Amino acid sequence: MDEKTLQAALQDLPLGGLRYFERIGSTNDLALAWAAEGAPDLCLIVADEQTTGRGRSGRSWYTPPGAALAFSLILRPEGKEETLLSLYTGLGALAVVHALRERHALHAQIKWPNDLLLQGRKFAGVLVEAVWLGEQIESLIIGIGVNVYAQATPPPHQVDFPATSIEEVLHRRPNRIQLLHDILAALLDWRPRIGEPAFIKAWENALAYRGEQVHVQQGPTALSGHLLGLAADGALQLRSSQGEPITVHFGDVHLRPNIVS
Ligand code: BTN
Repeated sequence: MDEKTLQAALQDLPLGGLRYFERIGSTNDLALAWAAEGAPDLCLIVADEQTTGRGRSGRSWYTPPGAALAFSLILRPEGKEETLLSLYTGLGALAVVHALRERHALHAQIKWPNDLLLQGRKFAGVLVEAVWLGEQIESLIIGIGVNVYAQATPPPHQVDFPATSIEEVLHRRPNRIQLLHDILAALLDWRPRIGEPAFIKAWENALAYRGEQVHVQQGPTALSGHLLGLAADGALQLRSSQGEPITVHFGDVHLRPNIVS
């Protein structure tokens, strides 16, 4: 991967700018800094290797060189977009699902809210961070990490959920830059429909464990229930064993199927 090849491969996308790094700490950190300098909508940071990649809830994210996709897209939300911030994690996840389906006929699933699974194992994650100016959202960073080749799959002792890579499931090595293009194109395609019923439906259709019993840890609170789907605002809907509806809002949430301890 290099900047010239990236520029050429992504030239049909309306990016506001592109910065490529062979090795950096975290693309989200660089994107936050670039946004603070005034980066316009759709500026993209891509790294071949991250040394301090970050996941949700303060976890670290493994990005060894030459094997993964690690990128962050800066958005400047406008109008109705400002009221739909919790949906952007879904937007990033849905883009990965659609890219893999269209190009590779792979059916990835979304472990709500931000994990992506292939054959029940995590191969990608989304980390959305917002920059606020008082009450006003100034910019949004959608960070996406994908284990493309097998070397990107973290060793078992480093993960709290089984992991895999696209290569391990596909049994061949997909083109990393083409995959990046496909994910960005899908994200741009869905962005104008974020929050619309078709968007929620597509997100819901890709949910892992739908119709199954799941366990949800939300901060100190543990919940169990039958996973029904998504509410109109992207919240997760469960039904308790007593038949009561449970709504889980985006936050510090960890979802697991009942069979994984
Ligand atoms: C998670 O599964 O907890 C989210 C992982 C998000 C990782 C990506 S890699 C690109 C961007 N830069 C980061 O430091 N994190 C995100």
